[in-house]
Amino acid sequence: MHTHSRIGLLARTPGCTAGTIFAYGQTSSGKTYTMKGSENSDGIISMAIMQIFQTVIAVRSLTCSSNRDFLLRVSYLEIYNEVIKDLLNPENSVNLKIQENPQSREMFIKGLTELSVGSLDEIDQCLRIGEANRHVGETNINEFSSRSHTIFRIVSSGASLEDVPSAAVKVSTLNLVDLAGSERVGHTGAEGVRLKEGGHINKSLLALGNVIKKLTEEGSAASHVPYRDSKLTRILQSSLGGNARTSIICTVTPAAAYIDETHSTLKFAGKAKQVKNKPEVNEVR
Ligand SMILES: Nc1ncnc2c1ncn2[C@@H]1O[C@H](COP(=O)(O)OP(=O)(O)OP(=O)(O)O)[C@@H](O)[C@H]1O
Ligand SMILES: [Mg+2]
Repeated sequence: MHTHSRIGLLARTPGCTAGTIFAYGQTSSGKTYTMKGSENSDGIISMAIMQIFQTVIAVRSLTCSSNRDFLLRVSYLEIYNEVIKDLLNPENSVNLKIQENPQSREMFIKGLTELSVGSLDEIDQCLRIGEANRHVGETNINEFSSRSHTIFRIVSSGASLEDVPSAAVKVSTLNLVDLAGSERVGHTGAEGVRLKEGGHINKSLLALGNVIKKLTEEGSAASHVPYRDSKLTRILQSSLGGNARTSIICTVTPAAAYIDETHSTLKFAGKAKQVKNKPEVNEVR
């Protein structure tokens, strides 16, 4: 794993494996800012999308659009209080279940809305719809604190139409993840709903930390890795020590009051760097 971004991964080689980028850190340390950006500076999500479209356009112009084409599909989910919600269609959120694709070993959510997108505008619209449906709430530390983990997934399928029907379709997935941040009740002043949300957030982040720790232990390949302890680790299973290239961005705040949290984030980053993934090309025949 790498603590720097590898946004070009999916875009450069549409036949390559899955990629995941996520930001990790305590509440109000800048995860959403990094992933989503602000009015004045683009975040990882829009930069990645831009690069994917630029690459698709470049490949089309090089190979002539008549003999090669791409299909881009997007989905957007959140994990709120350990329940998976469809951010592109909140009506559709009853009991969505995680399943494993037997070919790619990647996890997917049965019944989750997947939309085909053909332009930057269409993808932007999906992001905006999803963000409007996401759970965000105010705490003492962050006015717009993310109360859920979100995964914006872009799936690109590329086929050489010349060879159809025998050609393999190469499928690449990019997961852009905005985690909710760990938080201490003493700092956030959370009570009621916020307290319940904070409990679920901390629990799933603990599960993430435990998975990372296990993956760095000697002989972990053979031993049990507790992916099933949270929806977050289950969905990101192939990105954590599996068939994917994963970049983790760790965010910290320089405020002295949060020295313990900063220390713990840096410890997580140190462990995460030791995890070795095994990326492979995904081909569907
Ligand atoms: N690098 C930065 N430059 C300027 N402003 C920033 C930067 N990073 C974060 N901020 C600001 O700090 C505040 C908190 O950031 P943000 O909401 O991204 O935190 P977070 O880690 O996502 O927190 P949470 O876990 O509560 O969701 C926001 O107002 C954001 O605009
Ligand atoms: Mg956030």
